[in-house]
Amino acid sequence: MAGIDHGQQRRRIVQALGAASALGALGAAAPAFAQSTKLKVGFMLPYTGTYAALGRAIENGFKLYVNEQGGKLGGREIEYFTVDDESEPAKAADNVNKLIKRDNVDVIVGTVHSGVQMAIVKAARDNNTLLIIPNAGVDEATGPLCAPNIFRVSFSNSQPGLAMGIVAALRGYKTAVTITWKYAAGEQSIGGFKETFEKGGGKVLKELYVPFPNVEFQALLTEIASIKPTCTYAFFAGGGAVKFVKDYAAAGLKDKVPLLGAGFLTDGTLDAQGGAADGLLTTLHYADNLTTPRNTAFRLAYAKAYSSKADVYAVQGYDSAQLLGIGLRAVGGDIGQRPLLIRAMAAAEIDSPRGKITLSPSHNVVQDFYLRKVENGENKSIGLAAKSLADPGRGCTMG
Ligand code: PHB
Repeated sequence: MAGIDHGQQRRRIVQALGAASALGALGAAAPAFAQSTKLKVGFMLPYTGTYAALGRAIENGFKLYVNEQGGKLGGREIEYFTVDDESEPAKAADNVNKLIKRDNVDVIVGTVHSGVQMAIVKAARDNNTLLIIPNAGVDEATGPLCAPNIFRVSFSNSQPGLAMGIVAALRGYKTAVTITWKYAAGEQSIGGFKETFEKGGGKVLKELYVPFPNVEFQALLTEIASIKPTCTYAFFAGGGAVKFVKDYAAAGLKDKVPLLGAGFLTDGTLDAQGGAADGLLTTLHYADNLTTPRNTAFRLAYAKAYSSKADVYAVQGYDSAQLLGIGLRAVGGDIGQRPLLIRAMAAAEIDSPRGKITLSPSHNVVQDFYLRKVENGENKSIGLAAKSLADPGRGCTMG
């Protein structure tokens, strides 16, 4: 891992000394640095484009948890900085530097899009910036590019696909066509599905792709109709998922070729998809109808605060704040105590609305994957698709 930003380190020491001497004058004890300055949290999220609603839900979820703690984590008040990453990998390196170099944030919470995430991960490694990934599943982040300062509270891209491949094979589907956007998230999701589906005796006949974030699906839907697989597996999310599910139904395919998906296909999208989504089966690490007191309270609080329904992205934002809170509590709010902070975060048991979760050695969540069915505008769990599924963390060595 490349070196620390010495300017940043110097500024922190100067700040700390200033706070400590001010406290000395008041006769107070040491941990005061932690209490006296605001912790800078930088959101790098999509606020425009096909993933805009996802970014907003993550930010909402994060702030909900902080507000439930009286506006503080580990005794520190929070100051927020935001950058709209537009889900645009070409702008990602510049955008992340705004948070690191210009705003000098203590921690980055971002992002949604796997391509943008790669640039954030690189910058976090180069600058030793603490990073919490609230969504993007790019396998490399907890694989070859894993690092002690990088944590993910969501999933890795192959996980929901691995879970759905198991389900599809068990349900007796023999052949499948896959369809997704041509970028890491789609490709890795399809990779997961294909691995377990084919291990279970199925065969992927064709992998269809559209460029991200295009939503011109017509020609490919015609191709699916002519191939006549026994099922289709899709990865889309946000605005693109709304359009795809509607187009699939409008093309008359829904009753002929069952549409299966990673849960993002129907999460946070159901109000806009209407009847086109009814009955769809997806796999994800969250479901709307988990009847634990934790989830019930979370959904109520979220609905009250934001006048909208919580979804998986809101959960991941909420859990990003929980993970940071666990780390900060262990160091009395002093985020400069890196080794202790990281040890506490790595060992965290998070009481998530999805259920209790822990992290794997590569800092990715170990969690159950639910099989969900869309019913009455909700993603309802109808069983477990995979228990305690860990991301294999291939290629991760924590330096
Ligand atoms: C990703 O790019 O990693 C991604 C985006 C949206 C999702 C899931 C994964 O819903």
